[in-house]
Amino acid sequence: MPDTAPLKNRRRLHAFLCEQVGGDKIAIINFGSQYTRLIARKVRELGVYSEIYSAQSTTQQLLDFAPRAIILSGGPESVDSHSAPEVGFDLQALNVPTLGICYGMQWLARQYGGKTKRVDSREFGSVLIDVQGSSALFDGMQADCGAKHTVWMSHGDSVVRLPSGFSAIAETEYTPIAAMADESRSWYGLQFHPEVTHTVCGTAILNNFIHKIARCSPSWQPANIIARSVDSIRRIVGDEHVLLALSGGVDSSVAALLLQQAIGKKLHCIFVDNGLLRAGERAQVVETFERHFGVDLYVVDAQDAFLRALKDVDDPEQKRQIIGRMFIEIIEKQALTIGKIDWLAQGTIYPDIIESAGAEGAHLIKSHHNVGGLPERMKLKVLEPLAYFFKDEVRKLGAALGLDKEIIERHPFPGPGLAVRVLGPLDKESLQLLRRVDTLFLKALRDHHLYDQVAQAFAVILPVKSVGVMGDRRQYGRVVVLRAVESEDFMTASSAELPTALLAEIASRIVNEVPGITRVCYDLSSKPPATIEWE
Ligand code: XMP
Repeated sequence: MPDTAPLKNRRRLHAFLCEQVGGDKIAIINFGSQYTRLIARKVRELGVYSEIYSAQSTTQQLLDFAPRAIILSGGPESVDSHSAPEVGFDLQALNVPTLGICYGMQWLARQYGGKTKRVDSREFGSVLIDVQGSSALFDGMQADCGAKHTVWMSHGDSVVRLPSGFSAIAETEYTPIAAMADESRSWYGLQFHPEVTHTVCGTAILNNFIHKIARCSPSWQPANIIARSVDSIRRIVGDEHVLLALSGGVDSSVAALLLQQAIGKKLHCIFVDNGLLRAGERAQVVETFERHFGVDLYVVDAQDAFLRALKDVDDPEQKRQIIGRMFIEIIEKQALTIGKIDWLAQGTIYPDIIESAGAEGAHLIKSHHNVGGLPERMKLKVLEPLAYFFKDEVRKLGAALGLDKEIIERHPFPGPGLAVRVLGPLDKESLQLLRRVDTLFLKALRDHHLYDQVAQAFAVILPVKSVGVMGDRRQYGRVVVLRAVESEDFMTASSAELPTALLAEIASRIVNEVPGITRVCYDLSSKPPATIEWE
């Protein structure tokens, strides 16, 4: 696929940032594991910049990135299967310390003369491993965790013959080769997952690999990331002006403050009130950005236009398309009104890029062309200052930039807003009912210190009516659903186990305090098979 202009700008900004961070980098090769992202985050938490590359990346692409070490992720396939991911690079040519995790270890084994086999005694869950010998990877482990310690296994295949140059460095009851090492090349394999918290010494093992074996410097720290991001943005923007679409969520808010530090008065922000916002949201954005941070903020009241365009539309995809299109039109119009705008900035973050590159991870990142649904014909250049940051890193940047805790800790809110939470066609009354229910629900969670315990919580209003009885009178009113989920990355989620007594109290308050609602349900579905939002 051709490199689009927006993608080029993202890579340019990123190249400046990497150049400035100046430290060592680690490439994570994705074989499709659900934990790949977690590995990348763990490495960054240990102070080293990491990036996810697809298994099909070429040797040259990886050489261009110049990683100090490589981590091969796990994956759902068998290395011997015809559906195993193709590999586009030559590990020997890269010649850097390498750690293969689960599938990554099996791939290493198969590639370099070893053998893997589907075994009857598959291991899933916590398992005790017994460390053997004195590998650099397990340095200090005996003292910290004892000779035997708990690790997290999830595999059906095992390495049954070591590749040449390797020796076994750990075993479990059912897996004689639970870890292997070729110390001369600094190549290692772990059958278990060091990146998950269930592996007691997992962080220590990763730390050994990153800092002691690969000798990476811990230069990826929030304090210096801000200064360097600011410099990178200044370099790429120069004397030009930037318009940022501000939603009030944590990503665009942090992007705004970073840009403000970098380019000051050359930053202009637009906040579109599309009538699909939660209660008090517009006022909060104005208060925070205009009054407190002194940002040049344009608030566009487009409530009526959005409601008109969405009248009678009940198909969720159509709703999203209409909303997306209108956003772009309003932003473009505003850019023309302000004049002199060269850039459109967005709060895109790294998981957005990873996700839009395809669920199976076959062409992660390198083939990514999604810039948030912006049309190709758009003249503005796209600036994404957070494109290579994870959410927790964005939150740390926000805190360091002085953003309110309330905004930093805010749950995600979808771009199409309440339009995808009023099921079926939209109308003002449903939106108003939903806002009241949502506010009451979230306040109750905050009052009970549960808001920060769940990844996302919200209410949905259904296009059905149900019978109730209040004060001996029959009522025929609307039904709302409360949803609270626990999730690491929003790709999978489970329903949060909120106390039943609290849910009953909230349900009772909703029916009593929001006229028109007769019934409250709690959504127990997990994702998959359901999604987090209802539309
Ligand atoms: P789903 O419903 O796909 O949601 O399980 C996963 C996460 O994404 C958010 N979401 C969106 N965010 N634009 C956004 O910016 C959208 O169109 C959109 N749809 C869903 C959702 O709130 C959840 O956090």
